[in-house]
Amino acid sequence: MSRVRHFLRDDDLSPADQDLVLDAAARLAEAPHLASEALRSDAIGLLFEKPSLRTRVSSEVACARLGATPVHLRTDELQLSRGETAEDSVRVLVGYLSLLMARVREHGFLEDLARPDVLPIVNGLSDRFHPLQSLADLLTLRQELGTLAGRRMAFVGDGNNVASSLMLASAMAGLGLVVATPEAYRPPEDVVDRAIELAAASGAEVRLTTDPVDAVKEADAVYTDVWTSMGQEDEEARRRRDLWPYQVNSELIAQAPASAIVLHCLPAHRGDEITDDVLDSERSRVFGQAHNRLPATAALFLFLLEPSLAGRLEEVPWDGDLP
Ligand code: CP
Ligand code: NVA
Repeated sequence: MSRVRHFLRDDDLSPADQDLVLDAAARLAEAPHLASEALRSDAIGLLFEKPSLRTRVSSEVACARLGATPVHLRTDELQLSRGETAEDSVRVLVGYLSLLMARVREHGFLEDLARPDVLPIVNGLSDRFHPLQSLADLLTLRQELGTLAGRRMAFVGDGNNVASSLMLASAMAGLGLVVATPEAYRPPEDVVDRAIELAAASGAEVRLTTDPVDAVKEADAVYTDVWTSMGQEDEEARRRRDLWPYQVNSELIAQAPASAIVLHCLPAHRGDEITDDVLDSERSRVFGQAHNRLPATAALFLFLLEPSLAGRLEEVPWDGDLP
């Protein structure tokens, strides 16, 4: 039994906890000041091994909104770069910090950081998962569609970290998901198996296809992400060639229901996985989706550090604050 709560992958939250975090995020999206003093005695570490716009800025502003002190960290400036272990580093950091969010090259590094089980570790993107992104995505879908259960989404492109997180998060929320990729670009087998297991409990349908039209034809939302993720730059030419038939363009969107919206975690490689006319169309919700990273991250930090307050946000009057 873990002593502290970590969020390395979407299913580190139970389906009920994911709902609670989304409720808190929805409330914070409407009333950003509600929990402005909630984490005033906490410092939160923000560690980046890879570039970031959205995760970096939204997590720092989430700290400010909750009264916490953000502390930016880079692996190459820590003794990690000279051989200090992740475990020893965390045993030290827990004396200063209440939580550490980390964007890492390898998911295993996050597991090493979580192993001492003394400091909550949050995945700010790894090669396997991007669960903070999925929280913002589900929040966006709730705002746009009203409910998640019984709705359907299509993910078209590379079965990457974003696709893997969406599979788990959607399955827990009862949101149907069809993932269209070439055979060789499917999400990892263990993730697919886990998503199917979670979907069986929620009643959602999760399935894979190689046919993008099959994926989008009944979709309430069509989601795509870059074909070449950070760290895969050497494979860019092959990926562009293999994934070209999976481009989200106006011909593909014409096969989706007229009401279907378009999502992308951003940054987009315009003209590759998505065309300008789709990204800039009336169906696109990508900038609101990016803005939702802020309340989603604030809600997750609050849930991990002050779970009873996160659960009580609904009760706080509009002009009030949490005690
Ligand atoms: N979507 C996302 O995580 O963006 P950044 O890489 O800019 O943080
Ligand atoms: N799949 C992308 C997501 C970026 C937010 C990557 O890992 O680079």
